[in-house]
Amino acid sequence: MKKIFLFGNWKMNQNLHATKNFAAESAAFFLEQPDMKAETEICIFPPFVLIPEAAKNFTKLGINVGAQNASDHGEGAYTGEVAPSMLKEAGCRCVIVGHSERRHIYGETSELVNKKALNCLASGLIPVLCVGETLKERDAGQTIDVISSQLQKGVKDFPVGAAYIVAYEPVWAIGTGRAASAQDAEKVCRLIKDSVHVPVLYGGSVKPSNAAELFSQPSIDGGLIGGASLKARDFFEILKNFRASEI
Ligand code: PGA
Repeated sequence: MKKIFLFGNWKMNQNLHATKNFAAESAAFFLEQPDMKAETEICIFPPFVLIPEAAKNFTKLGINVGAQNASDHGEGAYTGEVAPSMLKEAGCRCVIVGHSERRHIYGETSELVNKKALNCLASGLIPVLCVGETLKERDAGQTIDVISSQLQKGVKDFPVGAAYIVAYEPVWAIGTGRAASAQDAEKVCRLIKDSVHVPVLYGGSVKPSNAAELFSQPSIDGGLIGGASLKARDFFEILKNFRASEI
């Protein structure tokens, strides 16, 4: 049985009620299918304000909680920011850094992403470093160069043996319904894995119907799932379909 990471990025969605509901449905799912816990690391990334409620409800089910972003600074006069130490205290285990929506909508550079990742590591959090090329870069044959550069800059000065995860998320596949082919995703994930030797996730339109093929690729250790993580039923269907494909 392959160990897989099932990470759900809620983005700016859900509320208190939906968080509690998701927990209740997760509990019911694991009661019905206790085997599904084996070799699966689940982490849900809610908006900041839902983290304490998520931690309260999910942790006891064996589901970890993460944040979608963190400050590159420690506590202090940084209006609107949230320090990794606060996220740790609120119950987070992981933090997404460099998501393409942060890079492209909010102009985050690889240098800033690196600072955030280092700051998370210093607080004992596991950064989930996102990398991915745009459609324009892909069409220009620049995928490998873009990924290598984002990766190299993203992990700069990481201490030897640092615990982190990389998520390959082609920008053109995020929220578009158009996932990368399993072969294309595998090619890029292998390149990442060969260079950093940490778990590598694929993200971008992962859904119950394509997860089995993607996650069975040798260099893909699981998924960072956006849209299909909002409903517990879809999210766990992804896991069920993958496990069924293993038999
Ligand atoms: P998607 O988002 O699954 O909705 O494409 C993935 C992500 O942005 O992490």
